[in-house]
Amino acid sequence: MAVQVMARRSILAGTGGYLPARVLTNQELAASLDTSDAWIRERTGICQRHIAAPHETAAFMGTAAARQALAAAGAEPAEVEAIIVATSTPDQAFPSTALRIQAALDLPGGFGFDLSAACSGFVYALSVGDSLIRAGQAKGVLVIGTEVYSRILDWSDRGTCVLFGDGAGAVFLRAGAEGTDRGILSTHLHGQGSLGDILYVNGAVGRPDLPGTLVMQGREVFRHAVNRLAESVDEALAANFLTREDVDWLVPHQANLRIIDAMGRKLGLAPERVVVTVDRHANTSAASVPLALAEAVGDGRIGQGDLVLMEALGGGLTWGSALVRM
Ligand code: COA
Repeated sequence: MAVQVMARRSILAGTGGYLPARVLTNQELAASLDTSDAWIRERTGICQRHIAAPHETAAFMGTAAARQALAAAGAEPAEVEAIIVATSTPDQAFPSTALRIQAALDLPGGFGFDLSAACSGFVYALSVGDSLIRAGQAKGVLVIGTEVYSRILDWSDRGTCVLFGDGAGAVFLRAGAEGTDRGILSTHLHGQGSLGDILYVNGAVGRPDLPGTLVMQGREVFRHAVNRLAESVDEALAANFLTREDVDWLVPHQANLRIIDAMGRKLGLAPERVVVTVDRHANTSAASVPLALAEAVGDGRIGQGDLVLMEALGGGLTWGSALVRM
């Protein structure tokens, strides 16, 4: 007799987001940089971005987003058994941003760690959180993406500084009842270290001579993004025996509207089924997917039972997808 072991699914029980109050428009940037609102809008779809004040660190913003996600899930503090924070801009080398957030939320226990996968960080973290739940190691996992890229940008480089913004997004994953068809259906992760030098930070903690700013070969990244993300979409659908028609929502990484539109077209999705925040948030790296998800869940666009495809690509190169039945 065949014995079927049903792995527990991870339900996205609550979402949350946080954006700094300070908004920096393209016009403001153009006042001190050789750029224009028209160039930035045409090439990227970005109109503005949020910029963190000194007190708005990765941990501060991640805490606010996590608090919202826990409230939306109706989760008790003791339910949080693990915290995974995707960030490339932690407050400190250690303690981890995750444990700073654990303390700020006054959580009674659990464990936590930071994960570095640049703009794919949230998809990576979601995958790890899902694995913890499937393996029975945790029943409740906070997954957070939080970034202050404004602090690692070369503000004199018009090719990069216009593209990014600050913010945080979070989800609370809860182990679902056995047999439920809701939850994370699959995640697929990829990395290609040989392409590390097309998008990187040229410094590190412990290198006072090189505090580090972001360096990018924009065209190369663009080319890889379109190709790798298209493959990711096919991979996620094939693994679940689903077709493009089954997808209700695309929640893509928010780097460039042209890349987002290309993915929407590939899926044959009507534009209103693609969640877009890049116009207002710019690229918030690991925070972009959970911020977009929180916005579309919060305003009622994405509802229970909807099939949501998330995808992202970032420095590393890293890329991947998550397919979720809400
Ligand atoms: N304002 C005005 N002109 C700018 C500019 C700006 N902010 N940034 C670059 N330019 C200029 C360049 O200097 C170049 O001028 P030149 O032709 O005189 O040399 C010209 O615009 C074209 O530059 P290029 O880099 O080839 O433009 P592009 O069409 O590739 O657009 C990006 C640039 C960055 C918008 C685009 O490559 C992109 O979005 N790449 C992907 C970035 C990304 O997604 N990164 C994050 C991944 S997680």
